[in-house]
Amino acid sequence: MSSTPANVATHTAGTVCDLVGNTPLVEIQRLREGVADGVKIYAKLEGFNPGGSVKDRAAWNMLKHGLDEGSLAPGKTILDSTSGNTGIALAMVGAALGFPVTLVMPANVSIERKRVVTAYGATPVYSDPLEGSDGALLMCREMYEAEPDKWFKPDQYFNEANPEAHFLTTGPEIWEQTDGAITHFVASIGTGGTVMGTGRYLKSQNKAVQVIAIEPDDAFHGIEGLKHMESSIVPGIFKEQELDSKIGVATDDAYDMVYDVAASEGMLVGQSSGAALCGALEVARQLDEGLLVVIFPDFGDRYLSTNLWMGWKNRKQTRKQ
Ligand SMILES: Cc1ncc(COP(=O)(O)O)c(C=O)c1O
Repeated sequence: MSSTPANVATHTAGTVCDLVGNTPLVEIQRLREGVADGVKIYAKLEGFNPGGSVKDRAAWNMLKHGLDEGSLAPGKTILDSTSGNTGIALAMVGAALGFPVTLVMPANVSIERKRVVTAYGATPVYSDPLEGSDGALLMCREMYEAEPDKWFKPDQYFNEANPEAHFLTTGPEIWEQTDGAITHFVASIGTGGTVMGTGRYLKSQNKAVQVIAIEPDDAFHGIEGLKHMESSIVPGIFKEQELDSKIGVATDDAYDMVYDVAASEGMLVGQSSGAALCGALEVARQLDEGLLVVIFPDFGDRYLSTNLWMGWKNRKQTRKQ
């Protein structure tokens, strides 16, 4: 029988949830055409979270709040609508805490996402792909209202524990990692949790930090995980008046950027990271000096079966000829 050394607790995590956060910042070295020498751009690689995305932070904090308040208790099933990453995060945290999880998602989310969620033991329910994330949101609401006692619904679009996760973790990490020198924060919008919570923390440390949100420039876009606000149900946690600006990015540009980041920086990231870097470069080109931090929400291997990789490179070459 093996014995446990006395100091093992200082070298191990209690559960996988204790590994959420503390992700690295990496400088963008080569993709800086038109950017002044006095401007630095750093990407925060959220793919290093244990569930593979920025959404681990929100999921863990929302479930923690539920446990503290008693609304998440034995016998309950966790239910939410999700475009994918939140589902994976809830499935992971739910499994680690011993709760069943049911997830409503548009039927066209990538096969990798469906398989990962199922592997964590969660039950997927598919909504009409033509209705996008709003269709999943409405179906989930109906399921909850039909049996309210059965479910614990974190409701990431309206739950303040979502932005709070970033106020408590992402913001302080960036502040510390940049020694308080950050001038601009750039993040893409899904629920808006990342941009609102992180932005609030950074502004609480230095009011001058500019907070910039990135969204698809069109209602019919192919940037998985992101919302075009004007044509969507606006999340309750999203307060546009707190932002300094919002930039729309075309799907084609976001996809091209994903290839460029992989080939020029050695980072294989998802479409929303490509969109965020397009926006960050647009901001950076207008500055003489500054330190920008841009969120890369996840890695690209999650999308290998999607349009982004199935033939996109050829389309890109054709387009550029
Ligand atoms: C791939 C991807 N990028 C970005 C985001 C945006 O994160 P947030 O919901 O914090 O706005 C999400 C959220 O679902 C996402 O899945």
